Amino acid sequence: MTETEEVQKDRRTVIMSEIMTPDKVNFYGYIHGGYILQLLDRVAYACAARYSGKNTVTLSVDQVFFKEPIYVGELVIFYANVNFVGSTSMEIGIRVVAENLFTSQSRHTNTCYFTMVAVDEKGKPTKVPSLELRNELEKRRFQAGIIRRENRLKMRKTK
Ligand SMILES: CC(C)(COP(=O)(O)OP(=O)(O)OC[C@H]1O[C@@H](n2cnc3c(N)ncnc32)[C@H](O)[C@@H]1OP(=O)(O)O)[C@@H](O)C(=O)NCCC(=O)NCCS
Repeated sequence: MTETEEVQKDRRTVIMSEIMTPDKVNFYGYIHGGYILQLLDRVAYACAARYSGKNTVTLSVDQVFFKEPIYVGELVIFYANVNFVGSTSMEIGIRVVAENLFTSQSRHTNTCYFTMVAVDEKGKPTKVPSLELRNELEKRRFQAGIIRRENRLKMRKTK
């Protein structure tokens, strides 16, 4: 099986790329953070819907830091993965890489975590398939997802 076929077959991952065009810049000339957030939300949806086979909505997104600017002309690649699955919710981790098309140099600009909830036709949470953990990396990601989820739930209680 080719690498592309393997990625397509693995329904817990999505890779999406987008070229950064001049109409998406902020007043300083970097790519708008809001535009990147929109793309992140889109890829999180695609990943969660693809894995669960259900309609999903965004419940939360953990703090997103833009520690590095993204420039016009760069190819931004979003690597999304289902890290953790609860009963109706899924944590999607997204690694963002910006690549200079001419030099092929790439930079990891940020990583963030979306919580997506599968919903039925009435908009109520509905069960998703449990996540089979096939190797050490998946087990580590799942455990880290549990800890982040506990922190989110704690924050909900304190609000
Ligand atoms: C997402 C939504 C369907 C959840 O409905 P709800 O009645 O609050 O759902 P529940 O309390 O049953 O929780 C559903 C899941 O989310 C999880 N969850 C809820 N609040 C959470 C929080 N603060 N942190 C982490 N997980 C949370 C629950 O643990 C549960 O997961 P599990 O089934 O895997 O254990 C509902 O809040 C909604 O429709 N929100 C709007 C979504 C939307 O429009 N998003 C776009 C933003 S404009």
